[in-house]
Amino acid sequence: MLVTTVFTSPLLLPLSLSWLIASTFAAPLSDASTSILLDRSSSNSEATTPVSANDRSKILRPAQFAQIAYCQSADVQSSSKLKSDGFTPIAVGGDGGDVPRFFVGHDSQSQSIVVAHQGTDPKTCKFTHLSIVPPNSYEKDLILTPSPHLSLSIANDVKFLLKEMNSTLFPQAGSGPKVHDGFAEAHGRSADAVLSAVKSGLQSTGLKSVLVTGHSLGAAIATMDALMLRQNLDPSTAIKTVVFGLPRGGNQAYANLIDSTFGSGEFTYVTHGHDPVPNVPPRLLDYQHSSGEVHIPSSGEANAVACPGQENTNCQDGNSFFSTSVSDHAGPYFGGILMSNHNCPLSPS
Ligand SMILES: *[C@@H]1O[C@H](CO)[C@@H](O)[C@H](O)[C@H]1NC(C)=O
Repeated sequence: MLVTTVFTSPLLLPLSLSWLIASTFAAPLSDASTSILLDRSSSNSEATTPVSANDRSKILRPAQFAQIAYCQSADVQSSSKLKSDGFTPIAVGGDGGDVPRFFVGHDSQSQSIVVAHQGTDPKTCKFTHLSIVPPNSYEKDLILTPSPHLSLSIANDVKFLLKEMNSTLFPQAGSGPKVHDGFAEAHGRSADAVLSAVKSGLQSTGLKSVLVTGHSLGAAIATMDALMLRQNLDPSTAIKTVVFGLPRGGNQAYANLIDSTFGSGEFTYVTHGHDPVPNVPPRLLDYQHSSGEVHIPSSGEANAVACPGQENTNCQDGNSFFSTSVSDHAGPYFGGILMSNHNCPLSPS
């Protein structure tokens, strides 16, 4: 029963992870491993470049907002700390459950309307099948852990299929790009509210710039928000996206749509260490990351690198499925920022 609850939950990241394990490794080991290895051979291996201290500092503000998206909506609305920091909320929403929390507001520091989405918390969101595994026997336990009824329950509650983008929200997407069904559903629950709050914020402030951010599932939703905003706002509005711990959100055409929509530096996704989340759903199921990765190695953010192209094997795509660290998902990202339900930096109102 617990399993069914987990997999019908809209917090779909754990679904993807557990499902990856259950389905990929339900196949005979040799087949699964071979597919993964073959799949990876198509990745690019362009040389990375260091991220300058100046560029790292530009990621700090979105990181702060992605962290704050885990806070209670009432605290975001009433926080004197946020106000004195130059942030004025315009709209808050979500319930932390079916609808991940989000907020839209005016940030005087970045001179933009900010959109931020809450993600999933690795500590509370049923990463059990990963976290109970001792590092050195990871592969073995992955194969042994899933039970037959777990696989069945997943098959019954399929929420991870690729599907076409909603043509009302994404009028220019066409039929090629396909997105993760569950992420699209989660995105759809806040899309209208976000779009209208951003429009009203741009109008009332006269600003011409939007900053979109989020972590984990919130990063996947934020990415869809960025595309939605680009297809619905005046072309003169600048849209910058910086997300953290992003899972793969769609197929090759979706990745290409992100690349063709956003220019250099407009779309950044930060990956950290051996976080397994950016590596799911797997590429062998036609999922693909766009360009724009910035990778923080385990040695720390001072050694962060920009990773050219899609799925750069010098960055997270080079991480082995068999050497992952779930705690890396929370960060630290730039400025030592940790992102989870346990790291809201605002005091309760
Ligand atoms: C597409 O988005 C619109 C606007 O949010 C919504 O009313 C409609 O139900 C969505 N369609 C589907 C198929 O989800």
